[in-house]
Amino acid sequence: MASLNNSFLFSFFFFVFSFLLCLSPLQVTSFHHHSLLSLMNGTVSTNSTRHHHKWVGPIGRRVITVNCNGSADFRSVQKAVDSIPVNNTENVVIQISAGYYKEKVLVPVTKPYITFEGAGRDVTVIEWHDRASDRGPNGQQLRTYKTASVTVFANYFSARNISFKNTAPAPLPGMQGWQAVAFRIAGDKAYFSGCGFYGAQDTLCDDAGRHYFKECYIEGSIDFIFGNGRSMYKKCELHSIATKFGSIAAQYRSTPYEKTGFAFVHCKVTGSGPLYVGRAMGQYARIVYSYTYFDNLVAHGGWDVDWDTNAKNKTVFVGVYKCWGPGAEALSWISGAKELDFDSAHRFLVKSFVNGRHWIAPSDA
Ligand SMILES: *[C@@H]1O[C@H](CO)[C@@H](O)[C@H](O)[C@H]1NC(C)=O
Ligand SMILES: *[C@@H]1O[C@H](CO)[C@@H](O)[C@H](O)[C@H]1NC(C)=O
Ligand SMILES: *[C@@H]1O[C@H](CO)[C@@H](O)[C@H](O)[C@H]1NC(C)=O
Ligand SMILES: *[C@@H]1O[C@H](CO)[C@@H](O)[C@H](O)[C@H]1NC(C)=O
Ligand SMILES: *[C@@H]1O[C@H](CO)[C@@H](O)[C@H](O)[C@H]1NC(C)=O
Ligand SMILES: *[C@@H]1O[C@H](CO)[C@@H](O)[C@H](O)[C@H]1NC(C)=O
Repeated sequence: MASLNNSFLFSFFFFVFSFLLCLSPLQVTSFHHHSLLSLMNGTVSTNSTRHHHKWVGPIGRRVITVNCNGSADFRSVQKAVDSIPVNNTENVVIQISAGYYKEKVLVPVTKPYITFEGAGRDVTVIEWHDRASDRGPNGQQLRTYKTASVTVFANYFSARNISFKNTAPAPLPGMQGWQAVAFRIAGDKAYFSGCGFYGAQDTLCDDAGRHYFKECYIEGSIDFIFGNGRSMYKKCELHSIATKFGSIAAQYRSTPYEKTGFAFVHCKVTGSGPLYVGRAMGQYARIVYSYTYFDNLVAHGGWDVDWDTNAKNKTVFVGVYKCWGPGAEALSWISGAKELDFDSAHRFLVKSFVNGRHWIAPSDA
């Protein structure tokens, strides 16, 4: 990626809404989640010839079934994951029948190539209800990242036609400790299609690694997509249930050297507002909306780039490209900002933003 063009950034629209801060910023103090790139080493090896990649895994495919009524291999999703051997080298599809699976699920780093396949996102649901201020087994508060109903550390995870929920009640503005994550993805090269993510504050923790979300539904109130992932969201619906103020994306890129950011393409923004479309969780946050429809719910100014430290507005990269709908005007209203031109927007429009050529089939993009 080319480095950021600061002169461009200055010309863009920035606005400070510091009062939003009291809505309870994410608890992000001491968590550092390394993207788990070491596993990739074992899966894609490149020798000295450029553009020649040797694919060395996975081998074979196996299906495991889960049904809460007892008619399948397992009654719980976690039991099915537990049955997969450490250092898994097979594609394992976990078929999950319709039903509500009330459990917390963890896919450890040692188990790549797992797919969760539901019977439809309206009928297959994994849900739990932890909040950041709840106490874990050690008596300590969980904090945001550990509240996830489903957590994935493994690479090459995918999910289709299934929903993930955190059913903790939505906080009112100003309430502390109500962050409640539905899904946290910290593995590399994760693919989601036809999935639902339901929560309120901090629904989807797009933590680390390269991710592709296609035709997903993501619902929440405050910072409901957040983290330091490098992700493309294609044809997704982003649905706000904010009661007073809400915000969609909080991106955590904190150095100019990271390739992370959130690229929303052909998405649809619906629900209740007023809503900020992006917040700078990290000093170098990158958030771009392209070809996206905005309902009439965008807060005046649209972006909150200065969050809790000063002048992030000089280093963030936020923008829109060919967006539309009654709310789109509010995004470009401030400072008469021009939208991105094609050259600036291009890298955020194509799956190469997540190096998709190497791991996303053309029919899945
Ligand atoms: C990654 O691959 C390189 C080159 O083959 C090797 O030196 C290194 O130890 C590997 N790292 C891991 C974590 O496997
Ligand atoms: C690179 O990989 C190819 C295909 O696996 C192999 O034929 C070739 O010898 C390798 N070259 C080097 C320099 O390792
Ligand atoms: C369990 O669910 C499956 C699929 O949803 C269904 O085909 C089967 O009849 C059910 N079995 C029982 C014992 O309810
Ligand atoms: C899994 O792989 C790691 C790294 O290669 C190895 O150290 C470990 O012993 C393996 N574990 C099992 C259970 O095979
Ligand atoms: C997901 O659901 C859609 C619509 O119900 C269906 O067309 C598609 O085949 C399903 N995909 C998988 C992988 O089950
Ligand atoms: C950036 O933020 C600082 C501090 O909040 C503010 O003084 C400045 O006017 C902002 N600059 C732009 C271009 O919005």
